[in-house]
Amino acid sequence: MKLQIINGPNLNLLGIREPGVYGSSTFEDYLQKLISLFPDIEFHYFQSNVEGEIINKIHETGFSFDGIILNAGAYTHTSIAIYDAIKGVETPVIEVHISNVHARESFRHHSLIAGACKGVIAGFGLDSYRLAVEAFTPQPPEGGVTVVK
Ligand code: DQA
Repeated sequence: MKLQIINGPNLNLLGIREPGVYGSSTFEDYLQKLISLFPDIEFHYFQSNVEGEIINKIHETGFSFDGIILNAGAYTHTSIAIYDAIKGVETPVIEVHISNVHARESFRHHSLIAGACKGVIAGFGLDSYRLAVEAFTPQPPEGGVTVVK
């Protein structure tokens, strides 16, 4: 399985930027943890502060990868062009956010890209990325699920 992680603007500053909101780990360090948790998955990582470069990466990987995990940063709230890019490719995209955008400023409450995505995961810190990987690789829980009627 091949997964592309795309981080948008200002996410190159993870570890330095507002650590109370985004934590104190760099994404590169977190990525090493993800790789060791999921040794069978081929991870590709791309970060850009430029909207068009994010769109180009969605086009480049959106017909051959099994999934894209996208944290579009502030472009989440502004970019019809990224929405169109996600709509235009075949690979499913999961939108992730480190912070709980719904518990923050009102301009972060609306995502312009969520409607084009398979799903949205927000508010679990960097663990949001692991949860997105698990959403692409669903494993039945040990012992199965008991349905109580
Ligand atoms: C973010 C939330 C966005 O509102 C913000 O602009 C970011 C980071 C997050 O991961 O919590 O840059 O996407």
